[in-house]
Amino acid sequence: MNFLLLCTGSPSKHLVQAIQKAGHTYEVHEPTDLYLFVSKSESGFDQIYNGGATLEEPVKLQAKSYHAVISRIGANLPHGASILRHLTENLGIYCAQTPDGLETASNKLKTTQRLSTRGLKVPQTVYAHDPRHINFLIKKVGGLPAVAKLLQGSQGKGVFLLETPLAANTALESFYKLSTNLKIQKMIKGGGKDIRAIVVGDQVAVAMERTANKGDFRANISQSGSGRKVELSEADKKICVEAAQAVDLRFAGVDIMKDESGATYVIEVNGNPGTKIIDITGHNYFISLIDFVAKRVQKIQGSSSVNSSSASAQQAGTVTAYNAYTQESRTMTAAEFSSLQHDGWTTQSYASSQKQSPLGENKIEVIDYYSGSIVLMTETEFREQERKGGHYKRKANY
Ligand SMILES: Nc1ncnc2c1ncn2[C@@H]1O[C@H](COP(=O)(O)OP(=O)(O)O)[C@@H](O)[C@H]1O
Ligand SMILES: [Mg+2]
Repeated sequence: MNFLLLCTGSPSKHLVQAIQKAGHTYEVHEPTDLYLFVSKSESGFDQIYNGGATLEEPVKLQAKSYHAVISRIGANLPHGASILRHLTENLGIYCAQTPDGLETASNKLKTTQRLSTRGLKVPQTVYAHDPRHINFLIKKVGGLPAVAKLLQGSQGKGVFLLETPLAANTALESFYKLSTNLKIQKMIKGGGKDIRAIVVGDQVAVAMERTANKGDFRANISQSGSGRKVELSEADKKICVEAAQAVDLRFAGVDIMKDESGATYVIEVNGNPGTKIIDITGHNYFISLIDFVAKRVQKIQGSSSVNSSSASAQQAGTVTAYNAYTQESRTMTAAEFSSLQHDGWTTQSYASSQKQSPLGENKIEVIDYYSGSIVLMTETEFREQERKGGHYKRKANY
């Protein structure tokens, strides 16, 4: 398979090794080098170009030459996410991460809200535009000390402690003056320890316990914390997988913490997890990622029908939704669906749509070879697509 690595900076050597070891090829592109083009024609004609600084003329990338995208977007996420959206949704290349998922993960408040709607335990959190009633807000999260966080930030930067009423008042007022919003969270007394788990698909590929440096409460390795490989309980693995899936990422770094009673809290989900965990544990999680993506792509290309059986299992107040990229089908609440529908989820089951066109011409099953899904269209519509060079093939010829 050929992978498009959508990478801010150079790809990690561990990622390159994982691809090469599995006998695949890759091509690296910096998101900021790419120009996306939306065609005036109907879907199937959008394009993407490499506009790298060293090129005299932008070069069109052949979407069909890539089997999957691996996204490693660091800086300038809003731009990188729009490039990823074009590659996945407009050009139909599979990625284990959705652009909306990456955007949700990059916002600590949105992540906390989303995790809570999925029934995952998060530390009590308050968020206020104008912290007029500081005592009330602090009380809501169990009093001082409390943890304050900038909504954007990583590696422990932008996470700090509110220890005294004076510190809380002055910090919150100062940030408000700068028009910077903070979320305030109950401090989990976990002895300066947390756990970073790498989720790939529905598995935890590897997990590491991190211990904060003496005098700090943040356990990030980048804050001189130390780490060691750990095996998570089945219950904690499930929490981590559900946390990644809650923000619609099939590849993510999930941070969890345990309080004194042993309850597990999800702290955050990272869309672009670091690689220090690989050096510390000796486990290259990219091997699992490449294996998962390769299997997904094979499944998409080899699938002959979209699962529609769950339609019959539909309960009141729920919808059966299908994911155009991952070929999953799932029964979910309407609220869940509305928060996910931009992540490739739709209620359209192609397999169960009408077999007869309004003109009475029989419909044939064709494969959309970008998404692997089966589409029903008339012979006339199919010939028109062929003439325009669309991305459909007769099922028998695929
Ligand atoms: N509510 C909390 N209670 C106690 N410690 C916390 C809490 N939230 C975060 N921490 C500590 O601070 C670290 C950084 O917080 P996190 O939300 O993961 O932000 P970052 O994106 O900067 O890693 C965590 O790894 C954990 O050790
Ligand atoms: Mg973190």
